[in-house]
Amino acid sequence: MSAAETIRLDRKHLWHPFTANSAWMDESFQPVSIVAGEGSWLIDAAGRRYLDGNSSIWTNLHGHRHPRLDEAVRSQLGKIAHSSFLGLTHEPAARLAQELLAFAQPGPASALNRVFFSDDGSTAMEAGLKMIVQSFAQTGQPQRIRFVSPAGAYHGDTVGAMSLGPSDHFHRRYQPLLFSSRRVMAPFCYRCRFNRAQPEKADARSYRQCNFECATQAEEAIAETGKDLAAWVLEPRVQGAAGMVMHPEGYAQRTCAAARQAGARILLDEVLTAFGRTGPAMSFHAEGIAPDVIALAKGLSGGYLPLAATLVSEEIFRAFDGPAENTFFHGHSYTANALGCAVARASLALLQDPAEQKRRADLAQNLRELSQDFWKHPQVGDVRQEGTILAVEIVAARATRRPFPATERRGARICQTAREFGLLTRPIGDVLILMPPYSTTANELQQMVEALRKALAKELPA
Ligand SMILES: Cc1ncc(COP(=O)(O)O)c(C=O)c1O
Repeated sequence: MSAAETIRLDRKHLWHPFTANSAWMDESFQPVSIVAGEGSWLIDAAGRRYLDGNSSIWTNLHGHRHPRLDEAVRSQLGKIAHSSFLGLTHEPAARLAQELLAFAQPGPASALNRVFFSDDGSTAMEAGLKMIVQSFAQTGQPQRIRFVSPAGAYHGDTVGAMSLGPSDHFHRRYQPLLFSSRRVMAPFCYRCRFNRAQPEKADARSYRQCNFECATQAEEAIAETGKDLAAWVLEPRVQGAAGMVMHPEGYAQRTCAAARQAGARILLDEVLTAFGRTGPAMSFHAEGIAPDVIALAKGLSGGYLPLAATLVSEEIFRAFDGPAENTFFHGHSYTANALGCAVARASLALLQDPAEQKRRADLAQNLRELSQDFWKHPQVGDVRQEGTILAVEIVAARATRRPFPATERRGARICQTAREFGLLTRPIGDVLILMPPYSTTANELQQMVEALRKALAKELPA
């Protein structure tokens, strides 16, 4: 089928996520129709090659059509693709659970000991929040139903996940459906009203001047919620959809300590940050904290198949012992999909290969060096990075951090123009993002950065 026919059928029958009808149906807009992938490249129906600058919306870790991942799927397919997980079990799920727990929490003192599989980040979070509420209800603390999280947190689009991190922009229309949760100021140094420092050409976290008001406010909110608090919910180190908000050192540690003090659970959303994205195997490893529940998705299957997992402490699991009415009445048809589990095992093995770890560390270092070039553009206000996540925030005025009016959609226009230079990525507002697959070579990374720099220069001539 030709690309034109694909697009015609698409416009007639499809409905895309997070996509304005007016923009998609506009005939002057030409969607890219992807037919193949190869390492860090995506290839369209006309044979044009694009670098996958955001790892296919933050999912892909090792590149497309990785031989070891392809082989894991093929080998599992020769046995069975999927069977129900209700009352049945299978080896790929059992082995993956064991390997995932060892990866997520190495060492003997592991509190996390159970894995509940689902399909996406939202469902992993939804399961986690329901487990926490029900476990408290079944152990004599039914009043613990409140959640506190940083403003701008995004945990997905199911009703529970929306309630944990409602975004005015995304979730306003569903407000009447949501349960109430409390939000505290986000630890966002570049846009923090307490940061007295004048803007510098550096990551705002490195030159902030404040009294760590964000951590204090979170501690106070957690203490005030007290015996009603079910969990402190955190995307450790990087709040993704909030605009790649990167947290200052010590924030997670202080806030999680406050949650412990209040007798509440620590629920980490590592849907974006896990599997080496921010540097360590799991983002929370760098923070010295011990979560009770972790939500995983996106990179879990290396970006191959929709697979998610909620990692849970044995203590929470044991709260579901006893009569049948204590059961966790929750599940999905594709829970523990065998193909997904098989490819996730292959991905975990690659992540632990020392040569792959070195390649990832080199990629992060190269990205750090190349990204310094963005400072030459006068409309760049902040360049921040954690591991292989780079965020470049553009502003109308660097000296005052004044943003462009949202209606001008500068970030979207720059990323649209980047396609001309062979790069596919998606901004969050005026935050431009590069998050390359770990397979990206030094040369490919240079091309990615160069494509984004050229698009920035074309859309915003200095
Ligand atoms: C931190 C975080 N949590 C949850 C989600 C929701 O995941 P999904 O889109 O797979 O439902 C996302 C998606 O971007 C995310 O970034």
